[in-house]
This record gives sequence, structure tokens and C-alpha cells, in this order.
Amino acid sequence: MGGRDRKVEEEDRSGYETRLKSGFDMMAGDVLVVIISFIPAMIANSLAVVFGGGAPIDGGKIWRGKRIFGDGKTWKGLLGGGLSAALIGIVLHFIFNPFISIYPSLPGGLIAILSLSFGSLFGDIGGSFVKRRLGKARGSKSPIIDRYDFVVGAFLLTYIVSHDWFAYIYLDYPGILGTIIIILMLPVLHRGVNIIGYKLGLKKEPW
Ligand code: CTP
Ligand code: MG
Repeated sequence: MGGRDRKVEEEDRSGYETRLKSGFDMMAGDVLVVIISFIPAMIANSLAVVFGGGAPIDGGKIWRGKRIFGDGKTWKGLLGGGLSAALIGIVLHFIFNPFISIYPSLPGGLIAILSLSFGSLFGDIGGSFVKRRLGKARGSKSPIIDRYDFVVGAFLLTYIVSHDWFAYIYLDYPGILGTIIIILMLPVLHRGVNIIGYKLGLKKEPW
């Protein structure tokens, strides 16, 4: 009697553990997809540093006594950074596709990849716009704006142009956990990447 009960109990527990484990694997997988999918947005600005220079997007124009964006936002940075980040997204798609789908299937998925890459750069340009309005010089430090402008830009544009995919990947549980991890981790990652860029002589400031 007691033995049978114990056996039933053990079976219950092992079933519970199996469910828990597969649930955890699924959750970890979804969180990982979210983080990997966001790589183009995370690296677009670093790549803009590599490709940047030349004509500024605002054409040198002044608005209300200050530059619109400033000399740090160039066409070459925008296009070179955006396209190369998108290329990395496409590479990620092909690397992971046999195991797990990171983006919607191509070619439709290109919209998600491009919106993450260019949204990140648009957010960065928006950040510079705000910095100029606050009277901050090009290259000056603005911790909150510098750390979050590109995240906001990437999320916003992707939310608009790939609405269903965005909601499914970034907002539904458990993907939302990955989104929260991105938001919490980005300042650290961003700073790390910028220090590397600075040490390599690509960036003028380590932020
Ligand atoms: N860059 C570019 N075009 C972009 C974004 C960046 O050419 N769209 C290049 C510029 O050479 C820029 C460098 O990457 O100086 C670093 O980018 P960022 O830190 O965003 O610009 P800042 O020069 O710091 O200017 P801001 O104060 O406006 O952020
Ligand atoms: Mg800067």
C-alpha cells in the first residue's frame, strides 16, 4: 500500500520534472531567440562608426540656434551601418534557421531585419536631435539618451512595420522575458562595445 503510493508519487514527480524541464527549455529557447534577433539593432550603431564620415544628414543646417542633428550623423553612417547590420541579420537567419527561426521566413523577414537595423539608427539620430535641443555638443555624454535612443528606435519601427511578428516575439510570454533582459543588459553591452571601439581607435569617446 505504502509502496504503491510512493511509486505513484515518484511517477508524478518525474512527470512534473519532465514538464518543468521541457517548459524551461522552451522558455530559454524563446528568450534566446529574442536576444539573438536583436543583434542587428545592437551593432548597427557600432557599424555606423566604421562606415561613417562625410556629409552630415542635416546638411549642416541650424534650427533654433543649434544644429538639427550635428556632424556625428552622416549618410554614410546611416546607410553603411544599416545595410551591414541587416546583412549580419541575414547571416544569423541562415546560421540558426536549421534549428530555430529567428526572423519570419525570407524574403518577408527582411522587413523585420531592416527595421531592427535602421530603426536603431533612426533612434540614434532622434537621440542626437534631442541632445542638440538640450544644447549638448556633438560627442558629449548623455547617459540615458545614448543608451536607450537606439532601443526605442528599433522597437518602435519594428512594432510599426512588423507588428504581428514583433508582438509574438518580443511582447508575448516568454519572449517578453528576453525583452526585459535586453533592456536591462543593453547599457552594459553598449558601454562594452563602445569601449572596444574606442580602444580600436574607431570611436573618439569611450561612450
Ligand atoms: N556615425 C555616423 N552616422 C551615423 C551614426 C554615427 O557617421 N548615423 C559615426 C560618426 O562618425 C559619429 C560616430 O559614428 O561621430 C559615433 O556615433 P555617436 O556616438 O552616435 O555620435 P556622436 O559623434 O557622439 O554625436 P552625438 O552627440 O550626436 O551622439
Ligand atoms: Mg556619442
